[in-house]
Amino acid sequence: MEEKKMEKITSFAKRRGFVFASSEIYGGFAAVYDFGPYGAELAKNIREAWWKKMVQENDNIVGLDSSIFMHPKIWEASGHVSGFSDPLSECKECHSRARVDHLLEEAGVFADEKMSEEEINALLVENKEKLHCPKCNGNDFAPAKNFNLLVQSNLGNFTGDWDKKPTYLRGETCQGIYVNYKNVLDSTRVKVPFGIAQIGKAFRNEITARQFIFRKREFEQMEMQMFVHPDQAMEVYEEWRAKRWQYYLDLGLKEENLKWHEHENLVFYAKAAWDIEYRFPFGFKELEGVHARGNYDLTQHAKFSGKKLEYRDPATNEVFVPHVVETSVGVDRTFLAVLTEAYTEEDLGDGKERIVLRLPKKLAPIKAAIFPLLKNKPELVKKAREIFDELKLEFMCEFDDNGNVGKRYRRQDEIGTPYCVTIDFDSLEDKKVTVRDRDTMSQERVDIAEIGNYLKENLKQ
Ligand code: GAP
Repeated sequence: MEEKKMEKITSFAKRRGFVFASSEIYGGFAAVYDFGPYGAELAKNIREAWWKKMVQENDNIVGLDSSIFMHPKIWEASGHVSGFSDPLSECKECHSRARVDHLLEEAGVFADEKMSEEEINALLVENKEKLHCPKCNGNDFAPAKNFNLLVQSNLGNFTGDWDKKPTYLRGETCQGIYVNYKNVLDSTRVKVPFGIAQIGKAFRNEITARQFIFRKREFEQMEMQMFVHPDQAMEVYEEWRAKRWQYYLDLGLKEENLKWHEHENLVFYAKAAWDIEYRFPFGFKELEGVHARGNYDLTQHAKFSGKKLEYRDPATNEVFVPHVVETSVGVDRTFLAVLTEAYTEEDLGDGKERIVLRLPKKLAPIKAAIFPLLKNKPELVKKAREIFDELKLEFMCEFDDNGNVGKRYRRQDEIGTPYCVTIDFDSLEDKKVTVRDRDTMSQERVDIAEIGNYLKENLKQ
């Protein structure tokens, strides 16, 4: 049943222009996806909602937009070159490769991502009878080897010599924040505790391509790093855990579809790490990580760059390396979560049904659709165009004169448009239009002169 919902959402997302497989006319490109016209709007609104909540509404958080390419040493300092890997094993029957943690998960065995190669291999041997190769169903697997997830490039390598040190496409956006910590400190008026927030692309050589846009090789992160006094780190951490939980409720995700998951094996430097999980159609999975990272990041970059990354408190003169509290979520995972939550098949009785995307209004790709009642009546089309041309300056609107109004309502319901505005013959006389609500399907007459204010007021809710 739930798997069926995933299939439905995947085909719906394509059919209605939200998500396309990348390079589709060439047969696709594994684990890479494109946002279609409505998907691009939804993703933009997701970014804007996050930015507003994190940067605009907090006077001690500032934004950043650092580059995808960075000095390769950054990825040595961060530990990604030596330690950012997934365990991979080859099926001895069909020679296909699979992620061992996924093989074990399917066998009902939990492998923590921080386990060593030896620990993972012990689990593989212990649970051999329960394993199934996704390709040939065999259960004989070679010992797992760690496979590094960083994506390499030849940027700046003009000799084509691969022995030269590779450059990397960033594996997470937060490294750009750590290496700009001093720049932000020196160029703005922030004082500890302060945060730097950033939205941007990240790249990982994810081994298994599955679960639609949940696990992509090119994806987008929204990360915020708070720099805090070591003594305040855990207090600030708990504050952010609460804020991020509330954020998802405000985004329309039901509390019963969210849960906390504590990391079992913390990396040595971390003080605490919890994930907010969402009930995707394939089960509860990580949506966001909230981490207390200690002073590891700044200390490592200070060591590798030879630059001091300390903070001097202007009031007390105390010098210390700030601790970092991180919140990290993907645009794509938020997209999939809100789509899952919003997608509704509604029985309207009398054998009628509709698909309605009950998105929070602030996330809806189109805020209002403007219809002339009839396409072949120039006076209606003219008036509707006039209203559309006015409203589009403030709201993302769509003009539609195709088919009967009932069909146009259904089309807008499917893409989650909160309001449809119809101009009929009475409109030319009484200067009012019919506004129809996506969720209740109720209709009311509103003065044409007031329609902009009406939308502004109602879209706030
Ligand atoms: N800076 C910490 C960090 O990158 P992470 O748990 O690896 O931590 C954070 O990633 C978030 O980024 C995840 O919770 C998820 O929302 C998103 N994310 C990670 N890998 C992803 C992938 N392959 N595809 C889509 N989103 C991904």
